Amino acid sequence: MSTHKIAWLPGDGVGVEVLEATKICLDALQFDATYTHGDIGWEFWCKEGDAFPDRTVSLLKRSDAALFGAITSKPVKEAESELVPALQGKGLVYRSPIVRMRQMFDLYTCRRPCRAYPGNPLNYKEGIDLVVFRENTEDLYAGVEFATVPEELVATLSKLSKPFSHFAKMPNSDYAITCKINSKIGCERVIRAAFQYAKEFGYPKVTVIHKANVVRATEGMFLETGKRVARDFPGIQMDDANIDAICMWLLKNPKSYGVLVATNMFGDIVSDLAAQMVGGLGFGCSGNIGDQLAVFEPTHGSAPKYAGQYKVNPIATILAAKMMLEWLCETDKAVKLEKAVASVIAEGQVRTYDMGGSATTLDMGEAIARKL
Ligand SMILES: NC(=O)c1ccc[n+]([C@@H]2O[C@H](COP(=O)([O-])OP(=O)(O)OC[C@H]3O[C@@H](n4cnc5c(N)ncnc54)[C@H](O)[C@@H]3O)[C@@H](O)[C@H]2O)c1
Repeated sequence: MSTHKIAWLPGDGVGVEVLEATKICLDALQFDATYTHGDIGWEFWCKEGDAFPDRTVSLLKRSDAALFGAITSKPVKEAESELVPALQGKGLVYRSPIVRMRQMFDLYTCRRPCRAYPGNPLNYKEGIDLVVFRENTEDLYAGVEFATVPEELVATLSKLSKPFSHFAKMPNSDYAITCKINSKIGCERVIRAAFQYAKEFGYPKVTVIHKANVVRATEGMFLETGKRVARDFPGIQMDDANIDAICMWLLKNPKSYGVLVATNMFGDIVSDLAAQMVGGLGFGCSGNIGDQLAVFEPTHGSAPKYAGQYKVNPIATILAAKMMLEWLCETDKAVKLEKAVASVIAEGQVRTYDMGGSATTLDMGEAIARKL
């Protein structure tokens, strides 16, 4: 097998530290790869006006997969104020590099496995094994927004029946619009990925999460697509649940669920809930997966409070690396890495602060590497 080309994107704050710990494990696995560093994050926004510079886009185009740490993001006005003086007032607008990456490379599936490893003191209940599939490029995160509503839209709103037409009577900067846009293909490909995963990894059921009774056009389409795709997977049961209800049911009976699939925003919410049930941010990993490229990351951010302290838990990132190994068909290495993580958790000798211990980020990386 040829050497894998990995784009190495530490980003900001603790992103750098968790990637360092992960590299210790990948080296212990003798993973045959070249790692090329890519610039991404707040520093590049401030200095260059672009948190995801073109050279990093080019690097991703030449890579087989990417491992990404975390970045800092700030609201648009605050972001502008932190630009170097030469770039201020030029109309540069901050946009999250992660959202841009997902859209630019069409990384349409976000997969977030949430497994309660035995011995993790943070498990909400034992035996939880959830895999959340979240549509990753559309929906309320498509970026189609109007802080000042354009005249064409005001005219359209004024033609609607009450109570919606009353917006059109307000000054167009007194209300704002964020469009929820979902396409049939967008719904279908993430739902298909969820069913395919359930089939491959032996999950008996896929739960389609939606709000079809209220958000009828888009969420209705998602549910109907789920029913249609399910017919192609006769061995897998499909059920469905409203987003609000599933938050309740997941807490009550987490072991009744396995693979779950949702549109972008609902998937974002449910995956954080699921991650919290198996240890929280120190354990939440994710893969942003397209047909050509996949970018793997912990779900936490740059945790400025802990940056530079080597204190946070790298397990989320090490599990993201395990997902990356699976994507690269390095299945044996992926299995070994997960077993090593599980074994360190079960022994309970090395624990970072979130698990009630005092081990550093690198202590945890080294403990896992020793199991390899
Ligand atoms: N994917 C990303 O890069 C991403 C995700 C979320 C937030 N952010 C950005 O990160 C910055 C900080 O955001 P935030 O403080 O709200 O969220 P965060 O995820 O960075 O951290 C919140 C808190 O969670 C805990 N935590 C985070 N990672 C941990 C780990 N690996 N182990 C143990 N505990 C951990 C810490 O207590 C931390 O203070 C913001 O600029 C935000 O926009 C980036």
